[in-house]
Amino acid sequence: MESNRREFLKSSSLITGGALLSSLPFSSYGYHNSADDVIKVALIGCGGRGTGAAAQALSTTQNVKLVAMADAFSDRVADAYTALTKRKYKNGAGADIDVAAKIDVPKDRMFVGFDAYKQAIALADVVILATPPGFRPMHFEEAVRQNKHIFMEKPVATDGPGIRRVLAAAEEAKKKKLNVVVGLQRHYQRNYREAINRIHEGKIGDIVGGSVYWVSGGVWNNPRKPGQTEMEYQMRNWYYFNWLCGDHITEQHVHNIDVANWVKQGYPTEARGTSGRQVRTGKEFGEIFDHHIVDFTYADGTLINSQCRHYEGTYSRVDEQFLGTNGRIDSFNGNKTILKSYKGGKVIYAHEGKGDINPYQVEHDELFAAIAKGEYKFADAENGAKSTLTSIMGRMATYSGKVIKWEDALNSQINLFPDRLAWDALPKLLPESDGFYPVAVPGKTITV
Ligand SMILES: NC(=O)c1ccc[n+]([C@@H]2O[C@H](COP(=O)([O-])OP(=O)(O)OC[C@H]3O[C@@H](n4cnc5c(N)ncnc54)[C@H](O)[C@@H]3O)[C@@H](O)[C@H]2O)c1
Repeated sequence: MESNRREFLKSSSLITGGALLSSLPFSSYGYHNSADDVIKVALIGCGGRGTGAAAQALSTTQNVKLVAMADAFSDRVADAYTALTKRKYKNGAGADIDVAAKIDVPKDRMFVGFDAYKQAIALADVVILATPPGFRPMHFEEAVRQNKHIFMEKPVATDGPGIRRVLAAAEEAKKKKLNVVVGLQRHYQRNYREAINRIHEGKIGDIVGGSVYWVSGGVWNNPRKPGQTEMEYQMRNWYYFNWLCGDHITEQHVHNIDVANWVKQGYPTEARGTSGRQVRTGKEFGEIFDHHIVDFTYADGTLINSQCRHYEGTYSRVDEQFLGTNGRIDSFNGNKTILKSYKGGKVIYAHEGKGDINPYQVEHDELFAAIAKGEYKFADAENGAKSTLTSIMGRMATYSGKVIKWEDALNSQINLFPDRLAWDALPKLLPESDGFYPVAVPGKTITV
């Protein structure tokens, strides 16, 4: 283990330059030097998922401490701090874990505002990036620049320019041997790993078709409050604005689209589709649509159908199915998965999933174990960016009504991000005089 740590230091120093090494924050925190050293974590984006991810990082068996928290809003930092210090948490084995004892975040290490991330990142060895995805490219770039290991939530961007920034930073992270885990947690879920390994071994032949779904009732909405600037309103109600969220085809359905890419071991060459706002039409729902139906075509001609919608009072389905030349997988169905051959319906693989460790915990267990051993094991950012781009390409196709090619989505110059970040700055999309936001009109809207 010691020699692993030394190798890790050596390879990091080769990349970043020996002169720089002594000023590297992870070097000065020294967790490579002894097994007892604390691994310091900073949380950027103290909402629901960030709070959960921090608790999971602190529930690993490594000596982990949360040392800094950052959010655009002070109330979100306060709420996350209260949750982490008061709630009861269990680790992957189901045992109670004293998360509160691992929180060391005095007031002067709670940072608020648009620049808060920089200060928090500087204090940590590992950063958790869990803001709305529009900020991910900027935060990921900074974390890589500061030589940190990273857990970042999906999606990793909301437009083509953001994806290109993440891909460039992902390359840097590889050169620096920084571990990067992306919260596409099916990659850390036992049934997905085992079933997809068997698919890749050819157990059901070549995959020639499939369908992926996130159809459900929808998510939260934060109403406009008196005195809010437009920037604050959009930030508080981020789900409904594409510069922040990317629409639900990106924010949620990226999980299932990513499974299709994983199964196919590649990314689609083009997308075409249909979408609209059928039931969620109020001004409080910003600009996003409530359904998208997309055909993704892969290089070998395989067509994967994707469906996502948010209609209250309808059935829900969140999973994936695939057809091979010799067999099929009807559903990943949560943890329960069955691969069957067509001939006599022979079961090739069946997994019930009882007792499997929650994949949200596995992500952190594996990441922190690698970091503690000085191992470079995780480079999820490139796939995270390409699967996010697949979902963005789907949105580009449905908003425009055109066939969108991979290269055109990747090279899109349409930048959704505001020109300036400040509470009095204006986002690019503004409400019209009746309070409604302009929405895409297929056939007219240009998306690449
Ligand atoms: N892997 C999963 O299954 C899963 C589940 C839920 C959410 N997520 C992802 O996690 C991310 C966060 O989602 P959430 O549900 O926690 O949302 P949330 O609104 O609860 O939390 C987001 C937090 O980020 C803060 N924030 C916004 N802009 C910021 C900035 N520039 N700097 C610092 N903080 C900023 C917000 O104020 C908020 O507290 C999203 O990308 C979402 O898609 C993933």
